Amino acid sequence: MSSSYQHDVLVLGSGAAGLTAALGMARAGLRVAVICKRDLNEGSTWWAQGGIAAVIDEADTVEDHIADTLVAGAGLCREEAVRFTVENSRAAVEWLVEQGVEFDRGAGGGFHLTREGGHGHRRIIHSADATGRAVSETLTSRALAEPNIQIYTHRVGIDLIMRDDRCEGAYVLNQKSGSVDVFQARFTVLATGGASKVYLYTSNPDGATGDGIAMAWRAGCRVSNLEFNQFHPTCLYHPKAKSFLITEAIRGEGGVLLLPDGERFMQRYDPRGELAPRDIVARAIDHEMKRLGIDCVYLDISHKSPDFLLEHFPTVKARCLELGIDITRDPIPVVPAAHYTCGGVMVDFEGRTDVANLYAIGETSCTGLHGANRMASNSLLECLVYGQAAARSIIARFPQSSEPQPARAWDESQVVDSDEDVVISHNWDELRRFMWDFVGIVRTTKRLQRALNRAQLLKQEIAEYYSNYRVTNDLLELRSLAVVAELIIRSALARKESRGLHFTLDYPELEPVARDTILVPPGFRGEGHGPTGFADGGERAVVQQL
Ligand code: FAD
Ligand code: SIN
Repeated sequence: MSSSYQHDVLVLGSGAAGLTAALGMARAGLRVAVICKRDLNEGSTWWAQGGIAAVIDEADTVEDHIADTLVAGAGLCREEAVRFTVENSRAAVEWLVEQGVEFDRGAGGGFHLTREGGHGHRRIIHSADATGRAVSETLTSRALAEPNIQIYTHRVGIDLIMRDDRCEGAYVLNQKSGSVDVFQARFTVLATGGASKVYLYTSNPDGATGDGIAMAWRAGCRVSNLEFNQFHPTCLYHPKAKSFLITEAIRGEGGVLLLPDGERFMQRYDPRGELAPRDIVARAIDHEMKRLGIDCVYLDISHKSPDFLLEHFPTVKARCLELGIDITRDPIPVVPAAHYTCGGVMVDFEGRTDVANLYAIGETSCTGLHGANRMASNSLLECLVYGQAAARSIIARFPQSSEPQPARAWDESQVVDSDEDVVISHNWDELRRFMWDFVGIVRTTKRLQRALNRAQLLKQEIAEYYSNYRVTNDLLELRSLAVVAELIIRSALARKESRGLHFTLDYPELEPVARDTILVPPGFRGEGHGPTGFADGGERAVVQQL
């Protein structure tokens, strides 16, 4: 039996982006629904280790943070977005402190700031090596205590409800009852995180399947720069350690990367050594692994005192110890893994998409901040700054908005329960495997083309399955992954150069002009239905209509 819900605003996602926006709107009196796929704390936010980049130290400046971000972004960042984010960094962190997040403090009582790749200063504020947990638990407890926020867990957004090119909510699967419910709202915010699950090996939790990107695309939003998938250089390599990250702050505090024979190798690739931006470090490791035929490299921080390691890296220390690795003595076996989706749904400074009344924030969106490579710890910052911006925008526009018309109920008359779930599990494995093998750290046109052929076949097969069987979470996630995989591959094929995270042997050079890759969905209604997204309106972009 399906149900209908009415709220002022529907927020899909309970990570840093979704909860920041929800709290802002609820405190201004709007009635907000927050839905999430599993429990409240199961997005990437909870898993974040290193911290949040912000200009706090007196020796640091906004201009330096901007400059470092632009360098890491390999010429493709949208400078206004970088400035907007960095200028708001201090206020964003202060807001988190007001909510109750406890960040580590140094000897003098000020915040302890750590360092990560690409940052020219110590500017990462953190809660030991479990910053995400501190942020997530604090925002969650605030949201639970907020009377204007209604939380619905174990709900999966399927598709957006559209009327006259305007978004009026979403169809949502209730995983416990199996019903598909109608959630209607004047404004809808996609805060569903990234899509790194599209790869076989990833640091991300299970739900990072790009659902928001796929939903927005189907509803008529342009997406941008999806070829830039960030591979974190150091995920724990151990048969029992699924997706466990070894924070970059370990390198920030002097950790060195070693080959099995103990040789340091990063200086051969970049004068910044272990603190070069992630694309460079991940590619160097990948190259060494392929050159020597080894399964992993090693990260060694054992020269630091046990007390220092316990104070700064208790999570990493404990997890490694569970697996028999004592980081006070042993080097840690590490490999690169898919970590962050730099591209996403194109938005403006308020988080508005091409579709009226539809917003996208956090890792789902592409604001232009990250360009061709996200600098470490800039993404939680983006979640906060754009979460707050979206809340302000919706609050300001709310009085002029109108109630949605009742939407039709979800039609299940033509579908039955699936009797061959093996199709889902098989396609899930196949997709993630070919994405890893053909669309990974080092690409070629031939491999991308192979991947595209497979992605298109899978998409067809999944569409057929979708139209015959009742939806389940696994089917919906696979459907999203297939859409996002195709968008990633098409974006990668459109880029005829190597820039930032996109490296192809067929075009190893950098083009003189940096261009965004913009994919335009079939039936795109263009101007008049929302913001144009990037300020240059596509002049400095390779635009592909699908
Ligand atoms: P998430 O926190 O991923 O939340 C997504 C939410 O959307 C979840 O609640 C999920 O249930 C929900 N959802 C998804 N699909 C649906 C659907 N169909 N229907 C309903 N709900 C849905 N960044 C930093 O800046 N600093 C760090 O130190 C850092 N460390 C990291 C460490 C790890 C291991 C990982 C994985 C990432 C790290 N990142 C870090 C990146 C950062 O954590 C993420 O980019 C950020 O948390 C994304 O937040 P978000 O709110 O956009 O999405
Ligand atoms: C890390 O702690 O290494 C992750 C930081 C990030 O992804 O920003």
